Amino acid sequence: MGVCLLGSESSGNRRAWIVHSLLVGAAVAAAAAAHLGLLRRLLRRGGSRSRVVGIIPARFASSRFHGKPLVHILGKPMIQRTWERAKMASSLDHVVVATDDERIVECCKGFGADVIMTSEACQNGTERCNEALGKLGKDYDVVVNIQGDEPLIEPEIINGIVKALQAAPDAVFSTAVAPLKPEDGTDPNRVKCIVDKQGYAIYFSRGLIPYNKSGKANQHFPYLLHLGIQSYDAKFLNLYTKLPPTPLQLEEDLEQLKVLENGYKMRVIKVDHDAHGVDTPEDVEKIEALMREWNIS
Ligand SMILES: *[C@@H]1O[C@H](CO)[C@@H](O)[C@H](O)[C@H]1NC(C)=O
Ligand SMILES: *[C@@H]1O[C@H](CO)[C@@H](O)[C@H](O)[C@H]1NC(C)=O
Repeated sequence: MGVCLLGSESSGNRRAWIVHSLLVGAAVAAAAAAHLGLLRRLLRRGGSRSRVVGIIPARFASSRFHGKPLVHILGKPMIQRTWERAKMASSLDHVVVATDDERIVECCKGFGADVIMTSEACQNGTERCNEALGKLGKDYDVVVNIQGDEPLIEPEIINGIVKALQAAPDAVFSTAVAPLKPEDGTDPNRVKCIVDKQGYAIYFSRGLIPYNKSGKANQHFPYLLHLGIQSYDAKFLNLYTKLPPTPLQLEEDLEQLKVLENGYKMRVIKVDHDAHGVDTPEDVEKIEALMREWNIS
């Protein structure tokens, strides 16, 4: 598979800031110098974002699939498969499972994973990641939210979104998209994404975007499918879970829209990868068939 960054990073804004700081008059030179020092430190930290943790949120009771993280896929629990993939990502300093259930804790300890117990009250994976981050007792700059139900996630995709966020200090969030088959264009469960020329997200929708005036999916347009994986600036993650829901987020039932509606920037990388999420027991058979075909054991 290939990972390519959409657009290129720009350091223009940073330079403008520093030039602005330098223009402060001589009378306040001392203050300006202190300000500049602080700014540089912030930029250096924002620019490096070097300490990275991968968190796999895993809830036991899912409405569509009870005990989903523990279902066996070709003889191994799904959560173990996801964890093994995540461990292969060189950009992660640490990988941890965050769960609300003792059965998942036991299972994870069995194959050697670090686990953090989180509250049953967490409404979604993002909240669970945030709670786990607070309980880690170590500082991280970037958090990757790795969905437990994507057992074939590519380590290169994890590395790709981490690098994208590290290279874009003006973004607080990064995620990945893959080519969308035009016949999936009208499936509301396939979330579509559009990006600007610099590789920042413009919008996500369950509807087909962009929309062709013929009223049909254009076979020749490179539509983009959103993959569930995402990474956040660690300080932003805390704020993200506290920001109240926004109108477009509620209407589309897509939590990432809250980021864009609040004016934050999101970096998007384009990858060649088919999503093979496990939502229902039927999906397990599909994914096992695929793994046999690809000789993955
Ligand atoms: C819309 O889709 C058709 C059919 O694929 C294509 O020929 C056309 O260029 C697209 N764009 C517009 C503006 O019609
Ligand atoms: C998670 O769930 C809460 C409660 O339903 C919701 O307010 C929030 O927008 C969701 N997303 C995030 C990122 O917190």
